[in-house]
Amino acid sequence: MNLKKKFALSSLLMVSLSVSVNAADIEEGESLYQDDCVACHDSSVFTRPAEERKVNDLEALKKQVHRCVMMTELGWFEEDEANVVEYLNTNYYKFKKEE
Ligand code: HEC
Repeated sequence: MNLKKKFALSSLLMVSLSVSVNAADIEEGESLYQDDCVACHDSSVFTRPAEERKVNDLEALKKQVHRCVMMTELGWFEEDEANVVEYLNTNYYKFKKEE
């Protein structure tokens, strides 16, 4: 299955999943992060002063995680990205959730 199809499928899956599963899984996010994300940067990029950081709100965090996932061709599901966003936000960024 190519990546595009996989992503299309994962979006479909999310629609059905989001009905029953709302809370992202922070522990799952942490282990995904430790496995796949530490090759290029360590956590110091998340704790730089705000003016040096790329990411300064939750939307930007989601986009940046997505960009890094695509760049690395990890083929993660949207759920994986959501878990890592939750993990990074809980531990480093601490942005307020919109809603
Ligand atoms: C192929 C190398 C590479 C990998 C692997 C990678 N990243 Fe990145 N990431 C980057 C680069 C380059 C930047 C920009 C760093 C900078 O501005 O100094 C970045 C920046 C970020 C930022 C923004 C930091 C800020 O300034 O606030 C986040 C969040 C992030 N990455 C998350 C992830 C996650 C999650 C993963 C695992 C899926 C990941 N990255 C894997 C290269 C990578």
